[in-house]
Amino acid sequence: MPRDLTALPTALPVWAAPMAGGPSTPALVRAAALAGGLGFLAGGYRTPADLSAQVAEVRSSGVVFGVNLFAPNPIPVAPDAYRAYARALRPEADRHHVALAADTVTEDDDAWADKLDLLLRDPVPLVSFTFGLPHPDTVRALQDAGSLVAPSVTTPAEALAAAENGADLLVVQAPAAGGHSATLTPARPLAPIPLPDLVSDVRHTVPLPLIATGGIATPADTADALRAGAHAVMAGTALLRTHESGASAPHKAALADPAFTGTVLTRAFTGRPARALRNRFTDTYEPLAPLGYPAVHHLTGPLRRAATAAGDTDLIHLWAGTGHRLARVEPAADALTRLAAFR
Ligand SMILES: Cc1cc2nc3c(=O)[nH]c(=O)nc-3n(C[C@H](O)[C@H](O)[C@H](O)COP(=O)(O)O)c2cc1C
Repeated sequence: MPRDLTALPTALPVWAAPMAGGPSTPALVRAAALAGGLGFLAGGYRTPADLSAQVAEVRSSGVVFGVNLFAPNPIPVAPDAYRAYARALRPEADRHHVALAADTVTEDDDAWADKLDLLLRDPVPLVSFTFGLPHPDTVRALQDAGSLVAPSVTTPAEALAAAENGADLLVVQAPAAGGHSATLTPARPLAPIPLPDLVSDVRHTVPLPLIATGGIATPADTADALRAGAHAVMAGTALLRTHESGASAPHKAALADPAFTGTVLTRAFTGRPARALRNRFTDTYEPLAPLGYPAVHHLTGPLRRAATAAGDTDLIHLWAGTGHRLARVEPAADALTRLAAFR
């Protein structure tokens, strides 16, 4: 059944992308909506209780918003490779006085059922997903509860699969994006396709409205993606240094630090491909890191938290898209309206 997208904002065709791990605060979501766009709470890594509290906080401001979840699509780690990686990381962990779970592999699903349950009991206008595609029954249940459903895709084939599962709209993510790739096949290298070309390819494959994301750093980037057929674009990295972003202080500083020479796609931090500022960790450990999510995420987590607390940017997962140098310290509304100022 075609669903009604008129509830979604069109005043500002630049939205705030979901960013788990701290950056996507309720204040950022609210600021995006008040600017005329839309923002997402990032449900990933959060406990259901925390997410519920954030939903209540944003809802109390009366704005239209979305919630993003990690849809299960596990990549079980090979136990030997996991242990070897833990051994390789041991000297870094020792330096930071943290213990790594070298003998315990954690393969959880980020409390998927509980978070879904929360969104069915307490529906929000829009629910997006990354990493996996929600089952058609899940899509239908969310729609019956009153939510629009937007899986993330990175290829036309993924778009087709998402459409067949009943999606209302799609987040189309190009490989320039900061943070984890939404790819459904993390073992396969990402094809280096520009966002407008990907949007155009997906638009010729499925008739759904598309939200384009990945590398939106200038008004021209927005114009190109909209011209290719996107309903709106979403910015992530461009918002990381804004006043409302909850990114850590070392992360915010590194994005503008000329000592960092660019970004790389790496699985070294979490066992799943993600784009980050190139640093000593990516240089040293990318060749050693196994594929395996969420096991590798849980393995390196204590080290990354300790490195963040110590401001040790050699070891932090400094998620960043290719346009990170253009991210400014400013109100989020200023970043979003600037990215929309192409007319
Ligand atoms: C720090 C960070 C965290 C992210 N977390 C999520 C997430 O939880 N869920 C998701 O669907 N995408 C996540 N992403 C990807 C963004 O939603 C978006 O696709 C990406 O930032 C767009 O590319 P850009 O960074 O070049 O703007 C994250 C990106 C960053 C930079």
